[in-house]
Amino acid sequence: MKTKIIKICSEKDFDLLCEPARCLAEGGLVVFPTETVYGLGANALMEESVKAIFEAKGRPSDNPLIVHIAKKEQAKAVVSEIPAAAGLVMEHFWPGPITLVMPRKDTVPDAVTAGLDTVAVRLPSHPIARKLLELSGVPVAAPSANTSGKPSPTRAEHVIEDLMGKVDYIIDGGAASVGLESTVLDTTVTPAQILRPGGIGKDVLDAVLGEVTYDRGLTDTGVAPKSPGMKYKHYAPKAQMVIVEGEWREARIEELIEDAKAEGKRVGVLTSGDAEYKADILLDGGRTAKEYAANLFDLLRRFDALGAELIIAELPFGDNGIEPAIKNRIYKAAGGNVIKC
Ligand code: TXA
Ligand code: MG
Repeated sequence: MKTKIIKICSEKDFDLLCEPARCLAEGGLVVFPTETVYGLGANALMEESVKAIFEAKGRPSDNPLIVHIAKKEQAKAVVSEIPAAAGLVMEHFWPGPITLVMPRKDTVPDAVTAGLDTVAVRLPSHPIARKLLELSGVPVAAPSANTSGKPSPTRAEHVIEDLMGKVDYIIDGGAASVGLESTVLDTTVTPAQILRPGGIGKDVLDAVLGEVTYDRGLTDTGVAPKSPGMKYKHYAPKAQMVIVEGEWREARIEELIEDAKAEGKRVGVLTSGDAEYKADILLDGGRTAKEYAANLFDLLRRFDALGAELIIAELPFGDNGIEPAIKNRIYKAAGGNVIKC
């Protein structure tokens, strides 16, 4: 398949979205930027097109997709009921980086929901995503636009690396601002439950909904996560990876670097702030959690491109706002290889 790349620099270029929007409505595959990560979209009501997403990504078919919409009212095309908690989230946080799991309508193909009786719906805030969705006139099923298992794409270059020749269009809208995927909130249970931490943190949800809970499967390895996607190996760079957390992390990181060098390994450190380590590759995630989240997936890919064999990630964050989402992604990227000191 020949992939067309379309670069959108400002609203003046929005006319260029007409062609890919038509392609989406007619059953094609279109990659588009969102505020979280790039999405690989297909018309959510066309089963064959949805199946083509799974093929392009190499995604297991038991992992359901998020349906993206242009306006709140469009949710009615795919859900049979809007639970009270979902209504509140829509009012306070849409458009934005939070996805709502709600009871599905039968018109939604099983390929989208992986046969579940719920469907996940999101109204993104990115202007290019919103314009494309509006022009297409259809609900759009879209997972992150990476090859399954690899770090999610936050720039068009990442998508080109993974999906060139496998999709009809790639729309380049620059770097994603949030950089980690949306929060997935199950609103079919009371209290509502976070199935995947993301761009909207538990603290702000608690303030609007009363207490929300985390799915136990997120942290308890003995319990299956309720969101099928959370059970897979994910976000992983090619290099082996280890996370070092806690007050004494700097000394421990120096030791790990020395050990790796003694074994002849090319070692990279993902830092946060000014720390100067004697590693072969030093990449800075940024001082704040917001910066670190926006940079994380890009840096994991960069370590691979620079030939790192071991990545040591310095993780100085707690449990506020986007911090649990950072931990969730980076723990998974490292396959749970975490040192606390
Ligand atoms: O920020 C995002 O959410 C991005 C952008 C493109 O919108 N999309 C994204 O999609 O991250 P994906 O497919 O990579 O992750 C979707 C997650 C998976 O963990 C999946 O299992 C879960 O949402 N999910 C989808 N439908 C669900 C449902 N009905 N019940 C529970 N979990 C669901
Ligand atoms: Mg994904």
